[in-house]
This record gives sequence, C-alpha cells and structure tokens, in this order.
Amino acid sequence: MTPKTGPLNVAVLASGGGSNFQALVDHSASGDHGWSVRLLVMNRDAGAAERARAADVPVRIISTRDRPDDEVAQETLAAFHEHEIDVVLLAGYLRRIPTEITRRYAGRMLNIHPALLPHFGGPGMYGMNVHRAVAESGTTVTGATVHFVSEDYDEGAVLAQWQVVRLPGDTPEAIAARVLEVEHRLYPAAVDHLCAALLTGVTPERMVDVCLDDPPDVDRPEIPSRTESNEEVR
Ligand code: GRF
Repeated sequence: MTPKTGPLNVAVLASGGGSNFQALVDHSASGDHGWSVRLLVMNRDAGAAERARAADVPVRIISTRDRPDDEVAQETLAAFHEHEIDVVLLAGYLRRIPTEITRRYAGRMLNIHPALLPHFGGPGMYGMNVHRAVAESGTTVTGATVHFVSEDYDEGAVLAQWQVVRLPGDTPEAIAARVLEVEHRLYPAAVDHLCAALLTGVTPERMVDVCLDDPPDVDRPEIPSRTESNEEVR
C-alpha cells in the first residue's frame, strides 16, 4: 500500500439495509479518525444505497448475477481506483468476493460477522441463520467479530470481538438486536484501530478488552463447537 499521511479512503460493500454502513459513516464524520467513507458498493439497490445518498457518499451498484468473477472484480477494482480506495469494509455483503480483490486488499479488508468466530461461521451462516443457530445451541454467550477477509470466507484473522450474553428465554430476534447494537460500536472502533496501524506502517495487533459493557465478573461458559448449516449463499 502507498504510504499516506492523510485520511484513508474507505469503501463499504453491502447488500442490505446498511445499519453498519450508517454507523461507519456517522463515526468517521464525527471527528478526525484518520479515515473517511468514500464509496458504497452494492450488488443490488437496497436500503444502504438510500443511506449513502442521504450522506453524500457515492454509490456504485455492481451486479454479480450471471457474471463471471473476473468481470465483477475488474468493475469493482476500477471503482476502487477511481475513488482511490485504501481500505475495504464488508458490511452485510452477501456475495463472494473475487480472489483478485481479496489478494489486492490483503490486510486492508475487513468483515463483520454477528457471532464469535470461529463459532457459528462458514457456509450458510449469515443473517438470522446465525442467531437461530445460537438460540438452538444452548450457548450462553455470543457476540460480534471483526476479521480480516481472506480467500476462505469467515476464516481470516480476527481483529476484534465483543461478547454478548444470551439471556434465558432470548429469541433469535432478541439476540440479533443486541448483537447488532454491539456491531455498531465494534466495527468503527476496529476500523480506527486498523487505520491507525496502516497510517503508522505497523501490523495491527488483535484488539483486547473491547467488551466495554460487560461486567468484569461475568461468568463465561464454554462456547460450543462450530455449527454447520446446509444453506449456501456465497
Ligand atoms: C450484520 O449483522 C453483519 O454482522 C452481517 O450482516 C448484517 C448487516 O446488517 N455481516 P446491516 O445491513 O449493516 O444492518
């Protein structure tokens, strides 16, 4: 990556409502954090695009339907080039990221996942599937994970995690809502951390003590092993 002294330009990739996109935009606009959201890329026009237009962030809809990976990669990389994108953030983007992009942005591309990876990750583990699996598993702790994007989805190095205690009687919807609140705080904090490291030319350490709201004496039971699902989306 070209060393930069100024703010890093961030692109967000999303497929849905974009509440994380909004949290990222709001945070970066709230002060000098060393980065700024310069582009939203979506594979279809959905809620996040409306949010971007309201925030004056350029939107690029790049369809992936019936198109080969390399064509999608070229169009996406051209958009990144045009907007001088330094860092890429996936926020509910439900399509496979072409390998050419993951390689080009290695160490500069993050994803947020609504569980504590490596648990409840992998094929089919997205959206409410994750929270239903958590509810059915009997685990008493879940949370959110920000991780680097590698060629194997959900398997890149973890940058930050935040635990959320599952309460007795919690429905998947209740778990989802509490995890999403945490995501909105965790993702901007993790991007601050990554960008500060990139701007000073160091490799970012995994963040510790991100669970700001958890009481220190919370009893954390063992997390069950990874849950599999047959549903495939990416
Ligand atoms: C979030 O739960 C995120 O963890 C997952 O997709 C969801 C996106 O939600 N990767 P939103 O579109 O940001 O509201």
